[in-house]
Amino acid sequence: MRESKISSLTPKGWLILKRFVIFYFSGTGNTWWVTGKLAAALRDRGAETGCYSIEEVDPGTADSLIAQSDAVGFGYPTYGSDLPGTMKAFMGKLSDQRKEAFLFCTQWLWSGDGARVGTEFLGPGFQVRWAEHFLMPNNVSVAILRLPYTNDKGRMGKVLKRAERKIEKFAGRISGGRLFLRGFNALSELSGYIQRGPFRRMYERLRDDISVDPGRCTRCEKCIRACPVGNLYLSGSVVLARGRCILCLRCYSFCPAMAVEYMGKAHDPKRGEPYRGPVEGFDPELLRPAAKD
Ligand SMILES: Cc1cc2nc3c(=O)[nH]c(=O)nc-3n(C[C@H](O)[C@H](O)[C@H](O)COP(=O)(O)O)c2cc1C
Repeated sequence: MRESKISSLTPKGWLILKRFVIFYFSGTGNTWWVTGKLAAALRDRGAETGCYSIEEVDPGTADSLIAQSDAVGFGYPTYGSDLPGTMKAFMGKLSDQRKEAFLFCTQWLWSGDGARVGTEFLGPGFQVRWAEHFLMPNNVSVAILRLPYTNDKGRMGKVLKRAERKIEKFAGRISGGRLFLRGFNALSELSGYIQRGPFRRMYERLRDDISVDPGRCTRCEKCIRACPVGNLYLSGSVVLARGRCILCLRCYSFCPAMAVEYMGKAHDPKRGEPYRGPVEGFDPELLRPAAKD
């Protein structure tokens, strides 16, 4: 982790970064929540800040929003110390502008260099000055892994409070022009790579493991509308997958009938609902994908 003052400070000691734009991807609401809090914290410090789900904007619109901003942020969940495929594709389609940038990822436990790895998908014009990791509740509630998770908002309070404190600090560093690069050192990079290497090798196989149990499915098509990559479609009266899942878990988590299966296993209702975000209000259907490839 490095922290030092940015070189281009004004005589008053503050960098004049007044307009920010943040692009985020969120599968189940954690990154959406962090982005909202970060934007609010930047606004509290006097900066105009817009935030957009990458599903709402096409790359051309994003380019012009970036051109009108002093700095651009990118937020995403960590998947095996890697970025969601949607975020990689989005970053890769942006024109390379010379802009200050900040990266942040949300994670349950650890990613090593989850924010840094985003730099691999941005053009060289983007000068990444700030990077941070935010611990958030686990969203992996798939039956096959049986990892601990909760939807009890009371129990999440502590995690969210801690994240809020970190968000405030991060916003202060950005608006105060103090460089801060979490995970930008050889050890973090190596530990991220140790997780990312096997994850990337398994990815193509893992992304073909979503299916829908026709016995439980009510054909409400919520999973189809919520999927960020158009992986699911209705064929006759059954929902089928195209094998292009990015593992965001939206369909699995938000299916009202808990009919979506991962690796052939549906959610066990005895565990309660699958993970559905840190607070009320995250509705993946409202993100209205701009383009599904
Ligand atoms: C496929 C997948 C892989 C994940 N890998 C990690 C990981 O390597 N380390 C970690 O701490 N959390 C991991 N998580 C947990 C999420 O990163 C975390 O809960 C995140 O905040 C979810 O954000 P979202 O609700 O915005 O999608 C993983 C989640 C998924 C779905």
